[in-house]
Amino acid sequence: MIDFAAIRAQFPAVQDDICYLDSAATTQKPQVVIDTISAYYSKQNANVHRGSHSLTAGATERFEAARHTVAQFINAGSSKEIIWTRGATEALNLIAQTYARNNLKAGDEILVSEMEHHANIVPWQIVAEQTGAHIVKLPMRSDCTLDLAALEAKLSANTKLVALAQVTNVTGTEIPLDIIIPLVRAKTNAVVVVDGAQGIVHHKVDVQTLDADFYVFSGHKLYAPVGIGVLYGKLDLLQAMPPWHGGGKMVEKVSFSGTTFSELPGKFEAGTPNVAGALALACAIDWLEQFDRQQLEQHIIGLQHQAYLALQQIDDIRVIGYQEGASVISFVMDGVHHQDIATLLDQQNVALRSGNHCAHPLMDALGIAGTVRASFAVYNNQDDVVKLIEAVKKAVDML
Ligand code: ALA
Repeated sequence: MIDFAAIRAQFPAVQDDICYLDSAATTQKPQVVIDTISAYYSKQNANVHRGSHSLTAGATERFEAARHTVAQFINAGSSKEIIWTRGATEALNLIAQTYARNNLKAGDEILVSEMEHHANIVPWQIVAEQTGAHIVKLPMRSDCTLDLAALEAKLSANTKLVALAQVTNVTGTEIPLDIIIPLVRAKTNAVVVVDGAQGIVHHKVDVQTLDADFYVFSGHKLYAPVGIGVLYGKLDLLQAMPPWHGGGKMVEKVSFSGTTFSELPGKFEAGTPNVAGALALACAIDWLEQFDRQQLEQHIIGLQHQAYLALQQIDDIRVIGYQEGASVISFVMDGVHHQDIATLLDQQNVALRSGNHCAHPLMDALGIAGTVRASFAVYNNQDDVVKLIEAVKKAVDML
């Protein structure tokens, strides 16, 4: 059995009297990850793939080892398929502005679910505007699950790209990619882009089994720092794509008569990268992988379920799109602004997110302006659930 108290003890940010329930926005970091960043800047700092001294050689070696760690973590076929980005958002924009911009044309269709985070909607709208392609909205059902029949009906020869989250950020809905991706393959030649920002935290990901063409995620939701993320792409697609940002390292030879570009992954990594972030992400992955991921997940799901049962007992609180087995739970109090509830909870040291959660289309589909969202991570415990429920009851009494 995993010692969850010992896990919690490794997170300095949750040692004080704070009930941190905003891990879907960003997780707290274990000490070992913080130490990795500190060690890098204290003793190892140097630019990578440049210079001729031992410090830069050491930094480059660690940086590429971190890439290898990520490749193994998601079972990519090659480290060349791992591109460092600032986060999932930048990775999605990279795909839109390289793959999509060069492969889509007027009349082509991009299928996007209405449950997506704005990061998996707006880049496609921008590239649709640039290419003349259309966005086709994939509706959800009233229980906040994806309408698979509607999706199947919308797949056609015009479908060129399908963009879906693995797990949505407002309700924690799991999208059945194991059903959808084979369906897309059977009926279209479209590429599938998966936003794994919420999913990779809770599920073991094997990109080869999943068979998505692109899979993206952020480090900061995975117990690693902000400013580092990953774009995984199938090798042949990445090789055929033009570069996005121009600058140092992404070139082979620059001349005014024409420039040639680096091999993968350098082609997509212009400028000095976030070396400390990459090292810290690899550290967070190693840290996570020492545990039985299923046991970690059962712990998180158990807390979410307890919160659900207790919230349901509170008059006036309405849970939105409850998903069994998720790590998040969204709720509203009819007639009360979600921010007012969140403020009252904050005054009681319960930190969670309220708002539209960067998911306007989902809010529109539900006919609400926003929700209060509690999200659970490995460092949370039953006391956190008790604190949440007591704080919500008190807020309801005051409103
Ligand atoms: N996408 C993050 C969230 O859902 C910021 O909170």
